Amino acid sequence: MGQPIIEMTGLTKRYNRFTAVDRIDLNIREGEIFGLLGPNGAGKSTTILMILGLTEPTGGKVSVRGINSTTHPVEVRRRVGYLPEDVGFYEDMTGFENLVYTAELNGISRGEAKEKAVELLHRVGLGEELKKRTGQYSKGMRQRLGLADVMIKNPEVIILDEPTSGIDPAGVQDFIRLIQQLSDETGLTVLFSSHHLNQVQTVCDRAALFNQGRLLTVLDINDLKDTPGRLEEVYNDYLGGGNDEENEE
Ligand SMILES: Nc1ncnc2c1ncn2[C@@H]1O[C@H](COP(=O)(O)OP(=O)(O)OP(=O)(O)O)[C@@H](O)[C@H]1O
Ligand SMILES: [Mg+2]
Repeated sequence: MGQPIIEMTGLTKRYNRFTAVDRIDLNIREGEIFGLLGPNGAGKSTTILMILGLTEPTGGKVSVRGINSTTHPVEVRRRVGYLPEDVGFYEDMTGFENLVYTAELNGISRGEAKEKAVELLHRVGLGEELKKRTGQYSKGMRQRLGLADVMIKNPEVIILDEPTSGIDPAGVQDFIRLIQQLSDETGLTVLFSSHHLNQVQTVCDRAALFNQGRLLTVLDINDLKDTPGRLEEVYNDYLGGGNDEENEE
């Protein structure tokens, strides 16, 4: 595994007396698929927003490739592709037009933008939908378009916040395979946030287990995978059971 690309030291976010993210020390390394795993309110999205320089920490710091997210948010966001929980597209425009628009906003010339848009649409399995308006896309298709959208500016790292929520189970598997494929092909670093142990287990190399703003442990998924049931055991040890949701899938 490579050098640290995202580095957090004592990263903290307080809202008045409430602590949403509590003194997180964590490094995400180049080329890995890293999970942010935890239940509702664990602090996953807040951590992501601080990495992006969209939320200011009340303590500690975070940097991307050594660039401080608070003091240099624009430089950081140029390097990071971010898929928020609720991604919005121009519904009257096709997937292709949406991608070209994003690319141009990121300073890519029109010619290159068109070429990249077509290539990426094929890559995420939407090659057949080039001319379809995004208003007609299913949730799974929208999320795959979202993945193409974050890839179009050639990011060094992509951050996906709960990218599988609301997708049907088959679509979830497709999406997860796609992340794996993109990372294998390009060596891209991926930060993947999820409620679901099984999804994190399938796609991540390592994962940070969060609860109530605290980092409980960093799970070495590749290591734990070798012993069946071990990961669930560790997860339950830290979260004290209450893992029923995971067993439904
Ligand atoms: N702007 C805000 N003002 C006050 N409290 C906030 C704000 N944003 C988040 N919080 C609180 O901080 C805690 C962490 O929220 P966060 O959204 O980071 O969790 P999460 O792990 O992403 O949860 P989910 O899985 O539900 O998306 C929650 O208790 C939330 O209510
Ligand atoms: Mg969230």
